[in-house]
Amino acid sequence: MKNLLKEMTIEEKLGQLIQIPPFFYIKDLKDELYGPAVELGLSKEQIFMTGSVLGIGSPEEMIEVQKTYLENNRHKIPLVFMADIIHGYETIFPIPLALAGSFNKDLVKKVAEISAKEAQTSGIHVTYSPMGDISREPRWGRIMESFGEDPHLNYILNYQMVKGYQGSSIKDEGSLAASFKHFAAYGLSEAGRDYNTVDLSEYSFKQYFAQGYLGAIDAGAKMAMTSFNTFEGIPATMNEKLIQKILKKDFGFEGLIISDYNGVRETITHGISENDKEAALNSFKAGLDIEMVSATYMKELKEEFESGRLPIELLDERVLKVLKFKEELGLFDNPYKGASRIKHDQIVLSSKNLEFALKAANESIVLLQNNNNILPLSKEQKIFLAGPNANETDLNGAWSWHGSRTNNETLYNILNNNDLLTSVEKCDVIVYFGGEKSNESGEAKSKTNINFNESQLNEIIELKKYNKPIILINSSGRPIILTNVIKHTDSILQTWFLGTKSAEAIYQTLYGINNPSAKLPVTFPQKIGQIPIYYNHLPTGRPKGSLYNEYVSYYIDSSNEPLFNFGFGLSYSNFKYLSLSISKDIIKGDEEVILTVNVKNESNRAGYEIDQLYIYDPFAKISRPVKELKDFRKVWFEENEEKKISFKINKEMFKYYDQNLNYRVDDGQIILYVGTSSNKTLEQKIIFVGGDK
Ligand code: GLC
Repeated sequence: MKNLLKEMTIEEKLGQLIQIPPFFYIKDLKDELYGPAVELGLSKEQIFMTGSVLGIGSPEEMIEVQKTYLENNRHKIPLVFMADIIHGYETIFPIPLALAGSFNKDLVKKVAEISAKEAQTSGIHVTYSPMGDISREPRWGRIMESFGEDPHLNYILNYQMVKGYQGSSIKDEGSLAASFKHFAAYGLSEAGRDYNTVDLSEYSFKQYFAQGYLGAIDAGAKMAMTSFNTFEGIPATMNEKLIQKILKKDFGFEGLIISDYNGVRETITHGISENDKEAALNSFKAGLDIEMVSATYMKELKEEFESGRLPIELLDERVLKVLKFKEELGLFDNPYKGASRIKHDQIVLSSKNLEFALKAANESIVLLQNNNNILPLSKEQKIFLAGPNANETDLNGAWSWHGSRTNNETLYNILNNNDLLTSVEKCDVIVYFGGEKSNESGEAKSKTNINFNESQLNEIIELKKYNKPIILINSSGRPIILTNVIKHTDSILQTWFLGTKSAEAIYQTLYGINNPSAKLPVTFPQKIGQIPIYYNHLPTGRPKGSLYNEYVSYYIDSSNEPLFNFGFGLSYSNFKYLSLSISKDIIKGDEEVILTVNVKNESNRAGYEIDQLYIYDPFAKISRPVKELKDFRKVWFEENEEKKISFKINKEMFKYYDQNLNYRVDDGQIILYVGTSSNKTLEQKIIFVGGDK
């Protein structure tokens, strides 16, 4: 690669750091550009010096773009093709927020593996995924792309997703290099308004909100995408401390760093860079390698390097990273890697992939209410089906740009084809399929009102007059406030957006073919006014119930409690947590002890239970959350089966950042909790000895 570098002009080197959409190479491709990036101002020669492509639509399109490019590029350096493969390519899986509720590491990894194999047949080499942004913000439309509010769950699932995409080598066909995003803390956009200001301390970031990115980094993610938002007042795209100190030095990330869409030029709008030249200089000096869909590097930095104001070695170092990445992907050997109509038609939407999509959908459905065990239904019961999603084919969720919408099943069709439908007068049970539409969440889809839809509520109240049990199926890309509707329903299934096999999974869950097992990866508030509300909160100095009468932390018009807690989810089985025991109640130094919980399925229905392990450190150098998830087990129980489930407890679980950002562990008491939800646990106290002084 170094010899190739020597042959390249400064302009050709800068070109490798630019990423543009495919239609710039072939004019008759669909023009999907929007916003200020429409006019990049690149000459034809410059277009054919650029290094990578954002988005591609088919094997034929990729082959044509790559072929045209190689015919026009002096050094025959292949393009690398990148795209948003977020929860599937053409087989669409549940949105990440739904997948998080499965608490199934292997399932999430397999989703990424299948997504990679399908996307690769269109010649895609890199995915801008996983999104490691932890969020407690249901008003934010992109919470659907996250794995929810918990640091530990985010670490685990981002790790698994990268492993699934990248496989054993990104050179292999069927693997994708992973570009985790959005570094950093984009999920904390103030007031849930997308692209809004983010303000948090480095302490808070490292203690909680970095865990998703760290999971991706520890799994070997090859790229990082910087976020639109500011971090300590500086846009992440040009934030030297965030990139050079935190991402590279503290977190040890050595891969490529790409901006988000037009992020470099947005440093002007943020009010820091005064023009394109400053935007380019600020971002380049901060450590940004690739500029997505803007071209200030090409247009503004050439003179800086030619004059020597910027050392050419800096440019060479960046360009070498890009060339080595292309080599690692195997693109110099085979620039068309993976792109094949034959493979596409064999692999994409295969029955095997669809079968797994159904499994993933089934494991992502959360049963929130089931009064009098109305669910599961029997085939003898007749249904009146209502609600705006009853006949909806698009339950894929946002960021499913290549997923089919038209040939997805609908719940109406499935029930109708099984002769299960009748009039509201004659029915045994009413099923109301409501919630959000797919396009009400995702990027730039923030909402101030996340109450259950008013007109849908009124329809349910009307249906109540028939005195039949009402089952609500709530599809949404975010927590919805169900407080006003829950008093009118008997059962509620939270179905998020489950992808291609949504309708089949909902049908199988209604009839008990699937026993719902998922748990909430994010808190469901009682009221919008409680937001942000999350389980791993600090105790405060005046927790509700403490000795101050009314001078405590509470609302005069609401309880503090959410409607549904993090980790909550019912089942058609009936799991009882009978006892908790520990092998030793004092842990010394590096010792490990075993915590064992005894759980029984007191029902004649087999199913999964997700046992959750939390800790609380009541006395530390900094105030610690009242509960923190540290491990979980997804365990299958046969009917009436009792099991002992064990967790390894060691000091790694107790470590935390103190105010000086020292990662430490103290002597003292730790309270361990194990249970079926963050607010329903057994507890065990232990002492740790051998902490930092
Ligand atoms: C978008 C998103 C980012 C995505 C990128 C490319 O604006 O913020 O998540 O990967 O542009 O589509």
